[in-house]
Parts: sequence; C-alpha cells; structure tokens
Amino acid sequence: MPSITFIHPDGRQQQIEAGDGESAMQAATRNDVSGILAECGGNAMCATCHVYVAEEWLARLPAMSDDEDALLDGAAAERRPSSRLSCQIKLAVDLDGLVLNLPDRQL
Ligand code: FES
Repeated sequence: MPSITFIHPDGRQQQIEAGDGESAMQAATRNDVSGILAECGGNAMCATCHVYVAEEWLARLPAMSDDEDALLDGAAAERRPSSRLSCQIKLAVDLDGLVLNLPDRQL
C-alpha cells in the first residue's frame, strides 16, 4: 500500500496509507485530511481537491488531461506549476512516499 504525506499550510505533516488504485483525494477524505473538500466526489468538476505536488514527484505523475488543466485555472488558491487535482492522481506502489502540499483554501 502506498504511503503518502500531506503537508498542511502551517507545515504540519500528515502521513496516511492509501489503497492500491485509490486516488489521492479518496485516500485523503477516508483519512480525514482537512483541506481536501472534494465537493464533486472525484468527477473532475470542482477543483476543491487542489494540491501542490512536491517538486521531486512532479515528473513521476502522468500528464494531466485537458479537463484537469482547465479546472485548475478556476481553483480558489493560486495555481502553480506543481498544481494538480488530487482526484486525478491514482496511487500505486510506484508512488509510495508521494508528498502533496495543501493550498491555504479550496473555496
Ligand atoms: S474532487 Fe472535484 S475535481 Fe477533484
């Protein structure tokens, strides 16, 4: 099972275990990670699951779809080069150790 770490805006780190095939958003909501709202339930329609991927992991994620790209433009917090929607990050053993930073707001 991949382990992923969420870093809150105040620097607090929260490490959780994700199920294989689960999205980072699903793992976060199942483990009560505050800061991931996921209002659309993972359908790539809300951008309230926005995260900043740690630099060293960026190139290891699959490219984003056009829909994800467009939605990120409407995210509440500043969009950065490391921005992704956590519902679109499928977790597998090769992402064990993934680090995701939470934005300061989702709405
Ligand atoms: S949960 Fe809505 S876009 Fe990810």
